Amino acid sequence: MTLGKLTRPPKGLRDNLRRFRGNSYSDRLTPPPELMQLVGSITADKYHAVGTEFVRYFTEYGLSPDASVLDIGCGSGRIAIALTEFLSPGANYQGFDIVPSAIEWCQREISSRYNNFEFYVADVRNRFYNPNGPVTGSQYRFPHDDSTFDFVFLTSVFTHLLPADLENYLAEIARVLKPGGRCLATFFLANDESLEHLATGRSDIAFDYSFDHHRVMNPEVPEFAVCYDEPYVTKLLANNGLSVLGPVRYGSWCGRKQFTSYQDFIVMERQ
Ligand SMILES: C[S@@+](CC[C@H](N)C(=O)[O-])C[C@H]1O[C@@H](n2cnc3c(N)ncnc32)[C@H](O)[C@@H]1O
Repeated sequence: MTLGKLTRPPKGLRDNLRRFRGNSYSDRLTPPPELMQLVGSITADKYHAVGTEFVRYFTEYGLSPDASVLDIGCGSGRIAIALTEFLSPGANYQGFDIVPSAIEWCQREISSRYNNFEFYVADVRNRFYNPNGPVTGSQYRFPHDDSTFDFVFLTSVFTHLLPADLENYLAEIARVLKPGGRCLATFFLANDESLEHLATGRSDIAFDYSFDHHRVMNPEVPEFAVCYDEPYVTKLLANNGLSVLGPVRYGSWCGRKQFTSYQDFIVMERQ
């Protein structure tokens, strides 16, 4: 399926796109500044704009209003808040994160208003976000049965995970997705184009420390920002029975002039 090349989306997809306009940002639930900053947003408008942007991508890739959805690394609910305006009361949304204060806010403010939105803490270690977590991302088993979800997403999460954690999370995603279910995940991908931009200083981020399959910005706290070799990611997806849907959607982070979003993103489908 090459949705990126379609000029006229099929009818079901047109209905989904029509359905999502998004409320005015001033009408949306908004977390306190420290919980917006946790996910990299300085202002409420920018915070909500990212939610609206990604829900539109999800609908382009077939997210249905009645879907069962898993939001991995949901932070303070930036995408969940936008999804409350798209998903129907019959849908099921599950979000987890490793920062308890963010999850407490989501439970108090979002689940109390939308009881089909559930949030839970996963006490997983990450030197940047949760340095004392007792479980590594490479060991963590998602608390969901096999083949539970129609749609899984990770926005700006694999950009903070090291390879052993990425590998386990991809295996877990393949396990909990239904056959034919889809996952949208953002990355910083190293390929010929982004490496040239990095080498000539056009990138927003300098990934100066290289390892076998990834690069980091800060070797003391590597999870601050992680860039993966694109062929390594592609191979991991194939090894987990996840096929890439349409073209990879490259982002502006490295200074490229033609882009879809800020980070790169890949949409995959469980075979
Ligand atoms: C830049 S924020 C993005 C949050 C959210 N996805 C969004 O787009 O608003 C990165 C998030 O990843 C979470 N995170 C980091 N490591 C994680 C892990 N191993 N499992 C789940 N979440 C993780 C962090 O706690 C943080 O909330």
